[in-house]
Amino acid sequence: MQTWLEGDAFYCYVGNKGFEDMDKLEIEGGVPLNGDVEAGGSKNASLPILFASILTSEKIEFTRLPDLKDVSTTLELLRGIGARTELGKNSASVEISSLASTEAPYDLVRTMRASILMLGPLLARARKAKVSLPGGCAIGARPVDLHLSGLEKMGATFRLEDGYVIGECPNGLRGAKISSRVPSVGATENLLMAASLAEGETILENAAREPEIVDLAKMLRAMGANISGEGSSELRIRGVSSLRGVNWRVMFDRIEAGTLLLAGPITGGKVCVRGVDAECLDAFSKKLMECGVRVTAGSDWIAAEGMGERPISFSTAPYPDYPTDLQAQLMAFLAQVPGESVAEETIFENRFMHIPELNRMGASIRIEGARAIIAGRRDCFGGATVMATDLRASASLVLAGLSARGTTNVRRIYHLDRGYESLEKKLSRLGAQILRKAE
Ligand code: EPZ
Repeated sequence: MQTWLEGDAFYCYVGNKGFEDMDKLEIEGGVPLNGDVEAGGSKNASLPILFASILTSEKIEFTRLPDLKDVSTTLELLRGIGARTELGKNSASVEISSLASTEAPYDLVRTMRASILMLGPLLARARKAKVSLPGGCAIGARPVDLHLSGLEKMGATFRLEDGYVIGECPNGLRGAKISSRVPSVGATENLLMAASLAEGETILENAAREPEIVDLAKMLRAMGANISGEGSSELRIRGVSSLRGVNWRVMFDRIEAGTLLLAGPITGGKVCVRGVDAECLDAFSKKLMECGVRVTAGSDWIAAEGMGERPISFSTAPYPDYPTDLQAQLMAFLAQVPGESVAEETIFENRFMHIPELNRMGASIRIEGARAIIAGRRDCFGGATVMATDLRASASLVLAGLSARGTTNVRRIYHLDRGYESLEKKLSRLGAQILRKAE
């Protein structure tokens, strides 16, 4: 058996499988991409929303659920605690009429760090939880102190045993005023779900404002939760005694949409992404327009064309500012915009791993602490064999490959499959010459 830490996860192949047996994407670059493509359901909305099914004994029906490794891992975790699940094409139903377990096992948690989002719902429903600590990942230490300290303020106590965090609240959770050091997406989601069934009112200050949190709050409200303030930095939740089942259509994936949108400009074409709320991509669109890309949008679509004329600077920050999950992708684009651009990563401490690979393809990017200085040059990319290291870094290598002269092989694309459903099929429909092959 071979195991290694990759990106957000361990990948464990039993038997003789290993790096050499994994899929790769082979891309013949230099072809302008044009046309319309549909955004899929959001990975980062799906995970908390699926875990919210723990909060009710009734059935929840999910649609526009992306067909991703992380979603299937989440469903497996839910089955492990007693969920009955039925799966369809981009849909699933989950019903936890009674809990058979309150444990999230190491073997699954180590493949998906978002499993920590089981903590709040399990404490709220069963007053106990045993969740393996997710550990760090390729992009950073990814601590969970804000999750634990917030739940402690609501009456939970925790101990650490064999790499598991074991929590309990024998008298149930009670509302509290919780101010977070940083607006953590995951901590906000965990506390929002826990507070929905807590006794009394919870106020979350400096809460994260991401659209995925708004989607979760709307679903919880449809289940009977009493929530206000979602999308702002202060959430107020008055706990209720129980929540009911619901049918829920997951919001679109704004990170996939931004990635697909860039495939037009970086290849000299025009791409329109449908099924989106363009407002969720405001900070991203503004940076593209500042660079000279023509961005247009309608009620449920957004389009971009033009290869960019002017270098720009951007810094990642919590929503509604520039999303860290689109940092690597924009950097690949700016590598071919003449002039010196600057990217600053303020959220994660190690999210520049795409840079050495982009430089191997012909980019000129140097790292100075949390900043990357990009010496942009038109047509800088040449085909190469490159290695994906984490989910969004993989996407930036694919974008560079689409722009590059010649053939690019992106290896270890299991990283990509965690967050993009059939990316190569969507790009092919836009004219890309891209094939998934066994390495
Ligand atoms: C979510 O991760 C997303 N994942 C990430 O997307 C995204 O990059 C991130 O939010 C920021 O937008 C999911 O939604 C499943 P955070 P999360 O808690 O919740 C620090 C992708 O590519 N922090 O907002 O883990 C942390 O170290 C993934 O789709 C603490 O210090 O992010 C980081 O510096 C990657 N203590 C900052 O907050 C804590 O308890 C933001 O992290 C929690 C976080």
